[in-house]
Amino acid sequence: MTGQHDPEAPRQDWQERRRQLQDAVDRHMIRYIGDFPQFFAERAAGAYFYDDSGRRLLDFTSGQMCATLGHNHPAVVAAIHRSCERALHLFSWILAPEVVELCRELAALLPPQLQKVILLNTGSESNEAAIRMAKLASGGHEVVGLSGSFHGLTGGAGAATYSVGRRGYGPSVPGNLTLPAPNAYRCPIRHCADVCDLTCLEVGFELIDSQRTGPPAAAIAEPILSTGGVIVPPPGYFPRLKELCEARGMLLILDEAQTAFGRVGANFAFEQDGVVPDFLTVSKTLGGGIPLAAAVTSAALEETCYERGFVHVTSHVSDPLPAAVGLAVLEVLRTERLAERALVLGARLAEGLRDLQQRYEVIGDVRGRGLLWGVELVADRLSRRPHPELGARITRKCLELGLSMNIVALPGLASVWRIAPPLNASEAQIDEGLAILDQAIRECV
Ligand SMILES: Cc1ncc(COP(=O)(O)O)c(C=O)c1O
Repeated sequence: MTGQHDPEAPRQDWQERRRQLQDAVDRHMIRYIGDFPQFFAERAAGAYFYDDSGRRLLDFTSGQMCATLGHNHPAVVAAIHRSCERALHLFSWILAPEVVELCRELAALLPPQLQKVILLNTGSESNEAAIRMAKLASGGHEVVGLSGSFHGLTGGAGAATYSVGRRGYGPSVPGNLTLPAPNAYRCPIRHCADVCDLTCLEVGFELIDSQRTGPPAAAIAEPILSTGGVIVPPPGYFPRLKELCEARGMLLILDEAQTAFGRVGANFAFEQDGVVPDFLTVSKTLGGGIPLAAAVTSAALEETCYERGFVHVTSHVSDPLPAAVGLAVLEVLRTERLAERALVLGARLAEGLRDLQQRYEVIGDVRGRGLLWGVELVADRLSRRPHPELGARITRKCLELGLSMNIVALPGLASVWRIAPPLNASEAQIDEGLAILDQAIRECV
C-alpha cells in the first residue's frame, strides 16, 4: 500500500523545487520541534493533505488537533471570504457584530454558570487570561497543574505545563504546584493497577497543602491529558477535584483546547465529567484551522475582575475575522452533528485498535473517548517498558504508506500514538487508516 496521488498537484520539477525549499529550510528556519519532515505540504482538503510530489496523506492528527471539521471546510472558507469583504481587524476596544454573536452562541451552548466570554487567539493565551482572572478574583497566586499536562508555552500557561518544554529556560512563575496525573496504566504513586481509585488525587492534595506558601488561586486541568499520553481520568475525578479546590478557595480552570466542540462525543468534555468549571478555556477546535480561542467564566467572577480593574488587551482580542469563522464552526458542529459522529467513528476506531492490540504484543494499552484515542507502545506487555524507538519507526513507516500520525513520547515515561481524525471523516477513511497502521506495525516489529 502506498499513498494515493493528487490529481490537482503540479508535478513538473517538484524534485528540484523540493531541493530548493529544503535548502531554504536549512538556512532560514528555526527548528522548533526537532527536524522537519523531508517533504512539503501543497494543499489540504477534508481528511487528507497532499505533498509536493502529489502524494495523498490521510490526516489522523486533524492538523495540530484543530481541524475537527476536516481541512478547508467550505463553511470556514466562506466565512473567511465574507470577512474579507467586511472587516478583518479593528481597534481592540471596538466590537463587530460577529464578535458579540460568537460570544452569545458560545454561551448558548454552556450552562448558566458560564456566560461571560473573551475571544482571543491561541490556547496558551486563553489559559493566560483564565489564570490571570483566577488570580485577580481569588486574591491568591498559587496554581496547581497535573503532571503530564500541556497548557501552552507562554509564561503562566507554561508554568502549569509539565509534559514538555520546562527545562533550560530558567525559573518558571513561582507558586506553581504539581498534582500527579491519574494514569491508570502507570500509576504515578504505584498504588493502582489499571483502574484509578483517585488515591493520587487525595495524596496529591496532601502534598500540595504541605508545600503551599501563600493563598491559592486555581487548579488547571485538561479533561483528557492529551500531550501527556491521552490519559483519561476516571469517573468522579473532576467532581472530587472541584470539591478539593472549593475547600481551599481555589477556582477550577478546565482547558478544553482539544476536547471541546465534539471531539469526545459531546459539545464539551466537562458535560461527561459531571462538573462545571469556574473557567473554561477553548481554542484549537473553535477556529476550524485558524487561530481563535476563548476563556469563559461566570457573571459573578467577571464582575469581580472588572471591579478590580481587569486588563487583558491584546493585538487581536475580539478580531472580527476569527469570530466569523468561529460562528461557522459552531454552525457546522450543529448541522453535521459532529459530537454524534465522533461517537460512531470513535467506536469503529476503538474496535480496530483493540483488534490490533490482540495481534501485536507491542501495543500495551488502548484508551480514549469519542474520537480521541491513545495507543501506548511497549517493549512487552509484562514489563510495560516504553518503546519510543519502535514508535518513531512505525510512525515513519505510516507516513511512507500515506498516513500521518502523531506520537507523543515523554522521555523515559511513555510512547503513545494520539489518534484523532477529523470528526467528519468517513468510515472508509477510518478503515483506511487502520489498515495502514496494521501494515506499518507488521513491517516494523
Ligand atoms: C490542552 C492544550 N492547551 C493549550 C494548548 C496551547 O495552545 P496554543 O498552542 O494554541 O497556544 C495546547 C496545545 O497543544 C493544548 O493541547
